[in-house]
Amino acid sequence: MDHSAGQQDFAECSRDDFRMAMRKLIGGVALICTHSDNRPYGMTATAVCSVSADPPTLLVCLNRKGSTCSAVSESGAFSVNLLGPENVELASTFASAPADLQDRFSVGEWTMLKTGAPILQNSSASFDCEVVEELDSGSHRIFIGQVRAVSRSQDDKALGYFAGGFVIPAQLLQAPA
Ligand SMILES: Cc1cc2nc3c(=O)[nH]c(=O)nc-3n(C[C@H](O)[C@H](O)[C@H](O)COP(=O)(O)O)c2cc1C
Repeated sequence: MDHSAGQQDFAECSRDDFRMAMRKLIGGVALICTHSDNRPYGMTATAVCSVSADPPTLLVCLNRKGSTCSAVSESGAFSVNLLGPENVELASTFASAPADLQDRFSVGEWTMLKTGAPILQNSSASFDCEVVEELDSGSHRIFIGQVRAVSRSQDDKALGYFAGGFVIPAQLLQAPA
């Protein structure tokens, strides 16, 4: 096999090498939210992964220094709200640091399902989860959540993040069933 053809850079993996290579991974953009101490918390995240369909389980990875991470640990519940193309402003708002974190929730229409975590009404899909396991790894905490309730929109739309910017998928191609 000719390994010179693709003009790849091979390097040992520094923090920056890792970050630059991970920019090549396209990720769905979500808002991870919770309710703790009588107020809502929430942040933008791409580190969301399906774990199991039986029982319905997913995981999210949150920076331990962030306010949302501590709030999820305290409340024992979180929501995952998958965003669509019309939610770019929300994605930016929930990733930046306002003077008052509650201001993040002044954008969007919010409701609740079972756990009390804030659920975005016009999300592409929302999962209301109870934390069943927490695991620290490096700077982040992995929360495994069992889904107690779900909602989804009728149309297939998504907002992605790739190469440092938001992307809107233009074409759905056939994949194995
Ligand atoms: C597109 C995008 C994806 C992000 N994904 C994550 C993520 O998966 N996990 C994480 O801890 N932070 C992620 N962040 C950063 C947080 O959204 C950001 O640090 C936020 O201010 C944290 O809020 P908090 O400190 O109130 O919890 C992401 C930011 C952007 C713009």
